[in-house]
Amino acid sequence: MKRFNNDIRFTPKSYPEEIEEKIKQLKRAGARLPQRNLLRTPQQLAGIRASAKINTALLDYLAGEICEGMTTADIDHMVYAFTTDHDAIPADFLYEGFPKCVCTSVNDVVCHGIPNPRQVLQSGDIVNVDVSTIYNGYYSDASRMFLIGEVSPEWKRLVEVTRECRDLGIQAAQPWAHLGDIGATIQEHAEKNGYSVVREYCGHGVGVKFHEEPEVTHYGHRGSGIVLLPGMTFTIEPMINMGKKEICMEEGDDWTVYTEDGKPSAQWESMILITEDGNEILTE
Ligand code: MF3
Ligand code: CO
Repeated sequence: MKRFNNDIRFTPKSYPEEIEEKIKQLKRAGARLPQRNLLRTPQQLAGIRASAKINTALLDYLAGEICEGMTTADIDHMVYAFTTDHDAIPADFLYEGFPKCVCTSVNDVVCHGIPNPRQVLQSGDIVNVDVSTIYNGYYSDASRMFLIGEVSPEWKRLVEVTRECRDLGIQAAQPWAHLGDIGATIQEHAEKNGYSVVREYCGHGVGVKFHEEPEVTHYGHRGSGIVLLPGMTFTIEPMINMGKKEICMEEGDDWTVYTEDGKPSAQWESMILITEDGNEILTE
């Protein structure tokens, strides 16, 4: 990043010359490249890092608190208190009308579970806690799975393999690789283990806005999609189902997404920065 050459309007005008040359060659060969406004300036990156630091500290804090007997509304209250204590804003709150500060997705809930004071965490549950933070105008986003009490080996394995999917996806996210390399890697690992990949929800560019380009699918083909360039920031957040990939939406609240077959689903989300020689995990 330090070698970037930026103008004062926060738009990286040009990379170091050897990188510009490589970009030109790729363009001539017909490759698709990201819009320049997706490449973060050092100023933007400083803001994004500060936001990501709070988001990670929040998940670390929750990891020490979440336990059997607690309600998902208790998690929401902790997210609100911790975030505002750090002069930050929970990005989920009122995002497209979402009514709480965090998504808590238990067992067969795939994503966007709404915290509820009547939903008590019980031994054997697996819960995804997805937190997003706005600090000084910059966005960060990450989620982890938490095991409550005694979880069955089958469900534990789902959680572990989903984490491996996320981590393998991160490894595939190299500069000059294609976006499709990430999805293909994740899909292969999930399906090899007998699981399926949710199609309707994807990773996404994040940092300056909550959800921006590119859309990072967790399935796909190697060599497809745009070329990844240093300076991009986006999430990788596979939702992996133990059973079939099909999902359905709770009609009552218009948010909660379930597996159609009622089998459990897991998700891990990180936010990464593509660098000149690999990537850097910004939130975990
Ligand atoms: N945090 C989610 C993501 O990973 C988005 C949640 S949007 C909300 O992109 F409105 F449901 F909170
Ligand atoms: Co996300």
